[in-house]
Amino acid sequence: MTLAKPTLQRMREELRVSEEFLARYNRPGPRYTSYPTAPVWNDAFGPGDLEKVHEEAERARTPVSLYMHIPFCESLCLFCACNVIIQKNKDVAPPYLGVLKRELERVSRSVSRERQVVQFHWGGGTPTYLTPAQIEDLFGATREHFTFAEDAEVGIEVDPRVTSREHLETLRRLGFNRLSMGIQDFHPEVQKTINRIQPFELTRDLLLAARELGFDSVNVDLIYGLPYQTPERFAHTVDEILELAPDRVALFSYAHVPWLKKQQGAFAAHLPEGMQKFEIFRTGLMKFLEAGYLYIGMDHFAKPGDELAIAQQNRTLHRNFQGYTTKAGADLYGMGVTAISGIQNAYAQNQRELAAWEKAVAERGIATMRGYHLSEDDRLRRAVISRLLCHTVVVKEEIAREFGIDFNDYFAEELRRLEPSREDGLVSIESNEIRTTWLGRIFIRNLAMVFDPYLEKQQLAAKPLFSKTL
Ligand SMILES: C[S@@+](CC[C@H](N)C(=O)[O-])C[C@H]1O[C@@H](n2cnc3c(N)ncnc32)[C@H](O)[C@@H]1O
Ligand code: SF4
Repeated sequence: MTLAKPTLQRMREELRVSEEFLARYNRPGPRYTSYPTAPVWNDAFGPGDLEKVHEEAERARTPVSLYMHIPFCESLCLFCACNVIIQKNKDVAPPYLGVLKRELERVSRSVSRERQVVQFHWGGGTPTYLTPAQIEDLFGATREHFTFAEDAEVGIEVDPRVTSREHLETLRRLGFNRLSMGIQDFHPEVQKTINRIQPFELTRDLLLAARELGFDSVNVDLIYGLPYQTPERFAHTVDEILELAPDRVALFSYAHVPWLKKQQGAFAAHLPEGMQKFEIFRTGLMKFLEAGYLYIGMDHFAKPGDELAIAQQNRTLHRNFQGYTTKAGADLYGMGVTAISGIQNAYAQNQRELAAWEKAVAERGIATMRGYHLSEDDRLRRAVISRLLCHTVVVKEEIAREFGIDFNDYFAEELRRLEPSREDGLVSIESNEIRTTWLGRIFIRNLAMVFDPYLEKQQLAAKPLFSKTL
């Protein structure tokens, strides 16, 4: 159901915030693709621990989600905060794929054939850095070792600048049904500054080809807060996106983390900040809502009728490292350099250096660098944070029943710390539930942070760990 005009008007009012409000809320905080967040994980958790977790999942006979990381890109976009390896010379691909297939084979030995793969995602870097033949070979190897569900969601991230029609035809023929395209912004000055020249026409033609080939869902990635963006310029980008009518839109907040990604320093003086960045976001948000898209939550929009929108209404929406999904209950097996797994009550990350990952796979097949076992308290907090992010409401009784606690007792301190946000209009706190308002949905990371006790220590770290919440 799209939003009625008076609702849109009310939202517009609700989202008129002051400088002082932004100064209080726009502070470093995690995106909660996991809880506890990655800086809490430790290197005492190794391959042996992951193997034990694999066994637990086997006993639980859970459905399977696979993630494959292809780290390579041909050139560096200066804003990029992803785990990438820039390599023009494509000779690096065959050896990488050799090691990846070995890891795949080893992981598959921990997953019996009656457990179905319900979700398969290729991310990066840029998976279409690979040739169509290489993609076909890797996909074939995966199918040989795993059983795919008939209706499995099979998705891939593509950079339109390096993706050909032949790529799309191959992907579609193999059974890929979802595409996610990086766009970011169409303004020439923004594109030049971030070293990503990507004409509208090229992007449009690829999207039309994807539609013609019958992909079920096409997502586009945009970023607000890039250098030289203004609300007017961004409004124009959004108009062009609306012309393309993607099924889903990810509108990410630009994460400025120059202590991790030095190249971001190159344009630091030209970044829109504070009120100006918020205005760019608000422009994008309102334009998508007015065009009939629904705001799913942290950064994501979908057309009404999209399964994410339905899952949110039914409160069956779920979040993992790739964002929002309807596939709750699946265990995620990540493969490739830096890849992350989320299996049962544990997280594990693969070696982050290419050579170290290759060596670990050669020696043992499993390349865990660090990981984490969740405690009972972690699981309880993960459930609360996940409900805030996915459902926008936490029903106290549901959590209490699931974990055998008295919600108001257990979270007395957190409820007290939510008071200022309640007064600021981000959240309502009733006897039976905590419910976010529109403003609260925009600043949802701040609300989730209240339930994260690890933050206090993390904030004392010498270097900041997270980007700002706006
Ligand atoms: C792996 S890339 C997508 C596929 C492909 N490499 C491309 O760029 O088209 C994932 C997405 O992360 C987002 N991203 C990367 N760095 C970011 C940053 N610093 N802040 C916010 N979003 C970022 C971009 O929107 C990008 O499209
Ligand atoms: S945004 Fe995409 S193409 Fe650009 S460097 Fe990052 S991963 Fe590579």
